[in-house]
Amino acid sequence: MEELEAIANEIKRCTLCDLCNKRNNAVPGEGYDKARIVLLGEAPGKNEDLQGRPFIGMSGRFLTKYLEKVGIKREAVFITNAVKCRPPNNRKPTLHEIETCRPYLLRQLNTINPSIILAFGTSAAASLGLKFKHLSEVRGRKINIKLDDKTFDCFVTFHPSFPMRFPHAREQFLKDIKTCLNIYKNLPTT
Ligand code: URA
Repeated sequence: MEELEAIANEIKRCTLCDLCNKRNNAVPGEGYDKARIVLLGEAPGKNEDLQGRPFIGMSGRFLTKYLEKVGIKREAVFITNAVKCRPPNNRKPTLHEIETCRPYLLRQLNTINPSIILAFGTSAAASLGLKFKHLSEVRGRKINIKLDDKTFDCFVTFHPSFPMRFPHAREQFLKDIKTCLNIYKNLPTT
């Protein structure tokens, strides 16, 4: 069995935290298993929980539109979340939930071995081990991180729900995605 599929099957059966009690479906993530870019969100919302797929609701449609603006197709990347089960009422995942779910993310990243991880928002950034008080401290630049003795490049921007709700942030969001893509294009190939 493909490693990513094996991880997904474990996630679907996971009972490591209380989020398993209320979920309809865990959402392991989806996309290209050899993706050079991994997109990392926060946690599934209502639609994602119902269908078991990441970023398919309103913020997902917004994100897909912005990816298309810079020529990224969803099928060419791997999309997942810091936390794989929906927190009740779409509350933010707790640090405990992020930490409990992190081993799944690390295994996915180790399997895919992307050139860059594009992390959306504070929960995604925290799940990569970044320490900050405000997102602006880590947003908009390439950051080298060490996870389980392996280094990855990551780039943090807003969660898509922020520019979706606040149009003034849309230009910066697009600029960030473009900057991330340019950084990725200039990275040495591994
Ligand atoms: N928001 C996220 O962070 N992830 C999803 O999959 C959907 C909405």
